[in-house]
Amino acid sequence: MLLQSNIPSPGPSPEIDPTFRRDVLSGLRQRERTIPARWFYDFRGSELFEKITALPEYYLTRAEQEILTEAAPQISSTIGARRVVVEFGSGSSAKTRTLLAAIEPSSYVPVDISGEFLRASSNALRLDFPHLPIHEVEGDFTQPLALPSGIDGHARIGFFPGSTIGNLRVPDAVNLLRAIGSTLGGGAMLLIGIDRIKDRETLLAAYDDTQGVTAAFNLNLLQRINRELRGSIPVDAFNHLIRWNEDESRIEMHLEAKHTVRFHIDGVPFSMAGGETIHTENSLKYSLREARLLLRAGGWRPIADWTDRQEYFSLILAETNRPNLAP
Ligand code: TRP
Repeated sequence: MLLQSNIPSPGPSPEIDPTFRRDVLSGLRQRERTIPARWFYDFRGSELFEKITALPEYYLTRAEQEILTEAAPQISSTIGARRVVVEFGSGSSAKTRTLLAAIEPSSYVPVDISGEFLRASSNALRLDFPHLPIHEVEGDFTQPLALPSGIDGHARIGFFPGSTIGNLRVPDAVNLLRAIGSTLGGGAMLLIGIDRIKDRETLLAAYDDTQGVTAAFNLNLLQRINRELRGSIPVDAFNHLIRWNEDESRIEMHLEAKHTVRFHIDGVPFSMAGGETIHTENSLKYSLREARLLLRAGGWRPIADWTDRQEYFSLILAETNRPNLAP
């Protein structure tokens, strides 16, 4: 190996995403090593995530789909027709189709961080809803977003399924709910899916499937670092590790070094001891009561909620606290 490769480079190399580089390098230098979960979702990561949602152990998607199908008539009569549906973290889901078919929206605005995946999913949706205007927004919805100008004048309904809100710590979740409120504006509603607290075995299995798809999803983050940040991480030296953290009421996802590992990322050296982990994701679980309080803290008034037959998941409809400003 060339001696030179051990010399940390002074700044980002060209054609490297500087934000990705900074998040990874600073995250791996922390005492508890962490990489922000948004970096999971390159095209490969988004594909693997879609596979997760179809796994036998991953009850969340099926439970939410069941609720949506059953509650569709009620949801539709409560929210009325001609709203703009703004979906946060849209993926490619069947849930979207169920909602759009039930409520006759005036347009659909999917927001997703993976642009390529977003466009592919929207094109598939256009075939099923040929008369529905679809305006894709590629971006990170944890930041304030400008909605496309073509949708002005219609009241909005935010759709935030999949318990994505649970992937944020409580203060960040509250801030995100407020940011969604300001993106959607006065008179808006929000339909949000939140996973519930349940027995430990069911929770652990949902994030540690026997086919290893969730493991592949987690490990893809290391492959992405190798591909995009000139990394030399020995991916085989890491385990997919899932923990239930009772105190924080959350599933934790980690990448655990099987033994001592040394690697470089864009010229910067790292060393991890066996058993050390990189914390890659949290999935907080809420009782219905806690979920309602979270919404209130984030500036929303819950007005209805539904659950599935197993009571695994909650779908909550809320109204904004923001005044409906005159046009
Ligand atoms: N929000 C979902 C959940 O917490 C989906 C999700 C986000 C997920 N990141 C994940 C699922 C990582 C599996 C692994 O379950």
